[in-house]
Amino acid sequence: MPIFKRKKTSILGIELGSSAIKVVELEKTNQHFQLVTYGIAKHDRAVIESSAQLNKQHRIDSLRRILNEARVTTHKVVAALPAINVFHTTIELPLMPDKDMDSAIHWEVKRLIPLPVDKMSIDWHIIPTNNQTEKKSMRVIITAAPKEIINHYMEIFKQANLQLVGLETEINAMRRSLISEQPGNYLVIDFGATNTNIVIFADQVPMMVRNVEIGGETITMNIVNAMQVTTDRAEQFRNSLGIPTKDDAPHPAARAIQFVIDSMIIKELERFIQTFKNTEHKNIDQVIITGGCAHLKNLPEHLEKILKINVSIGNPWQKIQYAQDLEPDLAAIGSEMAVVIGLALKQK
Ligand SMILES: Nc1ncnc2c1ncn2[C@@H]1O[C@H](COP(=O)(O)OP(=O)(O)O)[C@@H](O)[C@H]1O
Ligand SMILES: [Mg+2]
Repeated sequence: MPIFKRKKTSILGIELGSSAIKVVELEKTNQHFQLVTYGIAKHDRAVIESSAQLNKQHRIDSLRRILNEARVTTHKVVAALPAINVFHTTIELPLMPDKDMDSAIHWEVKRLIPLPVDKMSIDWHIIPTNNQTEKKSMRVIITAAPKEIINHYMEIFKQANLQLVGLETEINAMRRSLISEQPGNYLVIDFGATNTNIVIFADQVPMMVRNVEIGGETITMNIVNAMQVTTDRAEQFRNSLGIPTKDDAPHPAARAIQFVIDSMIIKELERFIQTFKNTEHKNIDQVIITGGCAHLKNLPEHLEKILKINVSIGNPWQKIQYAQDLEPDLAAIGSEMAVVIGLALKQK
């Protein structure tokens, strides 16, 4: 993994994902971002299956190792809070003076979240609107995360000798790396190992967020159950077969893959899109898939056929400069790196 420059102006984006630790270092010069180095340390299955708390030491060790191997040149980190740990909601509030906002938001959080408000770290912002006339209310996006989770992450980074300069949601990170600055409504599917995040960005604002506990591991286990094969074998089937096309005589493993996609993911997407249409009276312009399961063969075509919306695989490297000979390697891991690239893009 190459190092292009040794300046100290760069930032590391780090994701402690359920399947792997991912790291990217970007250096900013004159509004351009240059790739410095990157790395992925995959966890073995035992780690994926047990809780983050149990595996704290393992995570610290692999983090140290990957930083070493990638030969990062800075200790400054922006890290992601996994979407599964973050509450995200959009609410409507009457217009009020700024000084009253915090307490109004606290009330809402109290109403919506079954955790004591003083144990939550709460963030909010008002959704910009063009319609200024006769405005009686405003819409506010609230994100809240348990302080305990935040402390857990801070502790891991401290023990890996890193300086945490920012901690934010995976959603915001993906907005930076995947969403165009042009107006438009984008649905992003971050299809990971154990969880899938679904987000609708309307003109860059994350209007709706949903997390479902379905991912690549669910597909693998479904193949294991359908075919009575080992998890390794099931994973090979999953990666080589993907979703069957109409002309295939479907392999039992391909059928098991399609079952998860159709009955768990697509059903969820349809409901989600319908809610967006009902509340916002707008359509989705483009679906963007990211996360490791974006590699599933035939997934964009399949989603496009059912949802009748353009579907593409996100390219998080689009705003980044890098040496041309890295292109094939970077393209191959783009889907896994959307979050970390977005984190490192946060630097001012
Ligand atoms: N070719 C492929 N086909 C289907 N799934 C894949 C493929 N390659 C990787 N995956 C799966 O993608 C998941 C990892 O995705 P990633 O977004 O990195 O997860 P997370 O962020 O949850 O750690 C794993 O379940 C992995 O097995
Ligand atoms: Mg992820």
